[in-house]
Amino acid sequence: MEDDKDLPACNLSFLIGHLSFFILEIRRDLLYNAKITATAHYVPKKVVTNEDLEKFLDTSDEWIRTRTGIRQRHMVEKGVATSDLAAEASRRLLERRGISASEIDCIIVATVTPDMFFPSTACILQEKIGARNAWGFDLSGACTGFVYALAAAVQFVHSGAHRKVLVAGADVMTSILNPQDRNTYVLFGDGAGVALVEPTSPGEEGILDFILRSDGSGGKYLYMPGGGSLNPPTHETVQKKMHYVHQDGRAVFKYAVVGMAEVSLEILKRNNFCASDVVLYVPHQANSRIVDAAVERMGLDKSKVVLNIDRYANTTAATIPIGLSEACERNRVRRGDLVLMASFGAGFTWGSLLLRWAA
Ligand code: UT7
Repeated sequence: MEDDKDLPACNLSFLIGHLSFFILEIRRDLLYNAKITATAHYVPKKVVTNEDLEKFLDTSDEWIRTRTGIRQRHMVEKGVATSDLAAEASRRLLERRGISASEIDCIIVATVTPDMFFPSTACILQEKIGARNAWGFDLSGACTGFVYALAAAVQFVHSGAHRKVLVAGADVMTSILNPQDRNTYVLFGDGAGVALVEPTSPGEEGILDFILRSDGSGGKYLYMPGGGSLNPPTHETVQKKMHYVHQDGRAVFKYAVVGMAEVSLEILKRNNFCASDVVLYVPHQANSRIVDAAVERMGLDKSKVVLNIDRYANTTAATIPIGLSEACERNRVRRGDLVLMASFGAGFTWGSLLLRWAA
């Protein structure tokens, strides 16, 4: 008797299970995939070489080149802010895509050097380019900021909420570097890169997958302690150089080598690709040795790797979009190519994003 009573309930839950599965599948089909339709970048004109740094720092071109791969970096003139670089890159992008700023729905600015605490750099950028129909926000993900921001943009497009999301990675790192600290000053540069995220057309794959990670226990290895609510600016915070980047380079290096390779390999594996399927690998550029280690672990052909750290140094959130934009300008990527991005930075934050180029 008991078995007979249970039977209809069993059938019902089986039915509901199947029904919700089908509804989910139908919803998935109705969702929009997202793709990058245009990229652009801008770096300030002023170039500072390693030899220039030798003049006032206890360092050498040889040390910087062999330990990091950096030969020079671009630096802003006084009075130029993150939004200025992002605005110039955005204007170039709008021209390339052939659209007006008023068509943009949303602006996400990944940065650790906003123009000011508030208003957001996204709002300042909106005003500078005239994107009067957009809303926007800043995203603090350090070197992984652009990958985080792209993943966020994908959600807006995926849900159908927006059709044109402008994603910027922009940083004026020289505004938070101690010019007397050879451990950090030689490593960074200023710049901005942007990408436009839009829905795919029928048959296009666009952005396929992403992996986003963070581990707050790594915060103590790379940080800027002053200026926030914990240590508001005072004479003391200035004297103690708390408004500058502090980094335990050796510790970050170890985690970065493992993290970059891990998310690069994992995203390929779970999408049933192998390294030889990748046409373009755009890694974060903090140190050419970190990139080399990741590339070696992946077994990737070096000719597929974007490496421009020699010219720009580490531009934090701008690094990946600058790399992507340059690769497009140099025709290194074509429709249908598999592109992989990966990054590691302060937080710790790290992540990867895989896409089929559909611009
Ligand atoms: O993008 C955000 C994430 N950041 C990173 O991924 C950065 C990860 N770390 C690194 O890229 C490397 O650790 C650095 C480039 C920061 C440093 O390279 P390293 O090979 O790990 O050098 P080190 O820190 O072990 O320092 C070696 C020596 C030290 O001298 P002693 O203690 O051996 O006498 C440093 O004081 O090199 C010295 N040094 C320098 N010498 C000349 C440090 N900076 C300089 C310099 N010029 N600029």
